[in-house]
Formats: sequence, structure tokens, C-alpha cells
Amino acid sequence: MAKDRNNVVEAVRQSPPLDMGPYDPAGVSGKTIIITGGASGFGEGFARNWAAHGANVIIADISNGQPLAEEIRKAGGTAHYVRCDVTNWQSQVDMFREAVKLSPRGTIDAVVCNAGITDSGNSFTDPVGMDKEEPPKPVFKTIDVNLIGVMYSTHLAMHWLPLNEKPKNNPGGYSPDRHILLIGSVASLVPIPLLVQYGASKHAVLGLFRSLRATSFVKGIRINLLCPYFIDTPLIPPAGRSLLLGGAMGKPNDVVDAGTRLMADSTIHGRALVIGPSVKIDDEWKLLPEDTPDIDNVAVWEVLGSDFIEVDAFTRRFVSMLNAVERVRGWYGWGYDLVRMLAYPVTSRLRR
Ligand SMILES: NC(=O)c1ccc[n+]([C@@H]2O[C@H](COP(=O)([O-])OP(=O)(O)OC[C@H]3O[C@@H](n4cnc5c(N)ncnc54)[C@H](O)[C@@H]3O)[C@@H](O)[C@H]2O)c1
Repeated sequence: MAKDRNNVVEAVRQSPPLDMGPYDPAGVSGKTIIITGGASGFGEGFARNWAAHGANVIIADISNGQPLAEEIRKAGGTAHYVRCDVTNWQSQVDMFREAVKLSPRGTIDAVVCNAGITDSGNSFTDPVGMDKEEPPKPVFKTIDVNLIGVMYSTHLAMHWLPLNEKPKNNPGGYSPDRHILLIGSVASLVPIPLLVQYGASKHAVLGLFRSLRATSFVKGIRINLLCPYFIDTPLIPPAGRSLLLGGAMGKPNDVVDAGTRLMADSTIHGRALVIGPSVKIDDEWKLLPEDTPDIDNVAVWEVLGSDFIEVDAFTRRFVSMLNAVERVRGWYGWGYDLVRMLAYPVTSRLRR
């Protein structure tokens, strides 16, 4: 275990391990929350639940989210549909601007980078047409939606969230927030050989989370991650369902609940939750019968909770060692490297 001097957890303001007990969903009240891919699956669940608890939700989707927004409004909530293709930069720029206009306070509190698709069509591992004079360029649509789309949303959030400083009016209960909720997957953590683009994109979302949670506190932005296992939404195609026959799929409500915990509690920063099927287990992860008394079902587990302590402490030690090398080499080393740098254009040519 790392020594305290190597512990970057406090420096990056990561919040302590989550108390998975009851929480107050009313914390979402008054917040304006953009949900990409908000018209279906988890996004739809987030929109319904958060609007029911007083949030102003912006459903940003390429599919029609108008009927859902109307349904939420009829039930007394506040929701707006803004058509958006997350793979199109201008479409996202326009959507963020529209969201600001639709926000009662003219500010955005949270962005959920949720829109996603799975691989379909040609297989990454079996290229076709390579014998042609001009082999066809591969289509990386899953990367476009699940990674480029997420990067666009996050980049725009980096601009808009810090503007959420002073609300125009501040009725009781609302506290301004700056939250990015990324939707990864268990495929962010483990290999997923049959869905290469999906696995690569979700690993990249994990990389985005880990990079930003070390620095986003500087802008007062908190960032969290959900990593669902296979969950019963329209995303899972019949072929995927057939692979899961006899296994256990999770429920969208558990994902919505995990996301609501992170959204409602504005003290949570830098944490990641895995969501799977609801089960009863003992302390050693042994499955218990469903009717075991006095043991609650679990569907949400915290992951990557202490990796800052373990992995980043290594990095910190490594960098300290490199700094020590620099100190030992001193001004002599600095001068020597300077001369080599200035001579490089000539010496590199001579070496060719
Ligand atoms: N369902 C699962 O088993 C599962 C597991 C792990 C992670 N996830 C992730 O959760 C997120 C939500 O998935 P879901 O299960 O709710 O699926 P879903 O298919 O029900 O919802 C995805 C939404 O994204 C929208 N979308 C797709 N491409 C878009 C684009 N270019 N621009 C804007 N919107 C677009 C779709 O129209 C749809 O409304 C995805 O990122 C997915 O990868 C899902």
C-alpha cells in the first residue's frame, strides 16, 4: 500500500469511497441536465426519474425524443427534446446552445455522455476487399458515436459547466453543480473480443474518465463513471441476447438508481460504479439463495475506488525518480542536452 506522501487522492479532490446506503434523489432538483441518447434505455430512465425529482432535462438524441418529453411534461416534470447527432460537432454545439436557452437559469449543471451503439455489420477482425486496388476504408461508426461523440460532449461541457457560477435566481433547495457523468461499460474494464470497436471505445471512455478526474477539479467540475454489465435495453440485439441465454442480465432501473446517486450528491467526484444483475452474495462473493434472510440484494459495486492510491502512486514515484536523475545531472546535464538539441538537425542527418 502506498505511503501518504504518494497519495494523490486528496490532491485531486477525489471523494471517499461511496456509502451505498440510502441517498436523497431530491439533490437533482432544479438542475439543468443534458442527457445524450436520452430518448431510450438508460437515458430515458434518467430523464423520467430526474424530471420527477424536479430537474430540467434536455433529451439530446438522434432518435425522436419529443413524445417522451411531452409525456414527462404531462406528468408535471420539465423536459425538452433537442435533436442531436453526437458524431456531428456542429449538431452538438447547437444542442448545448439550445439547452442554455431552455435552462431556467441560463446555465447547465450536468452533462451525461450516454448516447451509444454496438458494433454491427462488417467484422473488424475479418477485413474484406483487401485484394482490391483501393481496399475499402473501414467504417468505424461505433468509435464515432461512443468515443468521438463523448469527447465532443465532454469538451463542450468543459466550456459550459464552469459558466454555472451565479444562478439568475436561486429558489431554496437548488445548488449549482458542474458534473460530467460518463457511461462506460463492463467492456471498459474487461476484453470484449467479439465487439472490438465497442471494447476499444469503452476502454477509451475509461481513459477519459481517469485523465479528467485527475484535473477537472481545477475547473470545479466533478466527473463520475457508470460501467453497466449487460442490461435489458434496446441496445442488446437478439444475437447478444442469445449469447446470454441462461445467464443473468441486469435491470435498467439499477443503472438509473446508480446514476441518480452520483447526480444527486454533488460531493461525489472521481468514483465509478459497476451495475450487474441483482444478487445476494456473502463477503467472499459466493452466491446465496434468493430467499436468504437478512441479506440485501446487491446490483451496484464500486470499482477503481483505490486505483489512484495504487497505480498513480507508482507514477508519482516514477516521476520523482526521474526528477532525482535530473537533480543529479544538474546544470552540466542541462547544458549537455541543450548542445545536443541544437546540434540535432545536423547529427541526425549525418546518422542517415
Ligand atoms: N444496455 C447495456 O447492456 C449496456 C451495457 C453497458 C453500457 N451501455 C451503454 O449505455 C449507454 C446507453 O445505452 P442503452 O442500453 O440505454 O441503449 P439504447 O439503444 O436504449 O439507447 C441509446 C440511445 O443513444 C441514441 N443514439 C445512438 N446514436 C446516436 C447519435 N449518433 N447521436 C445521438 N444519439 C444517438 C439512440 O437513438 C438511443 O436513444 C450506451 O453508451 C451504451 O454503450 C449499455
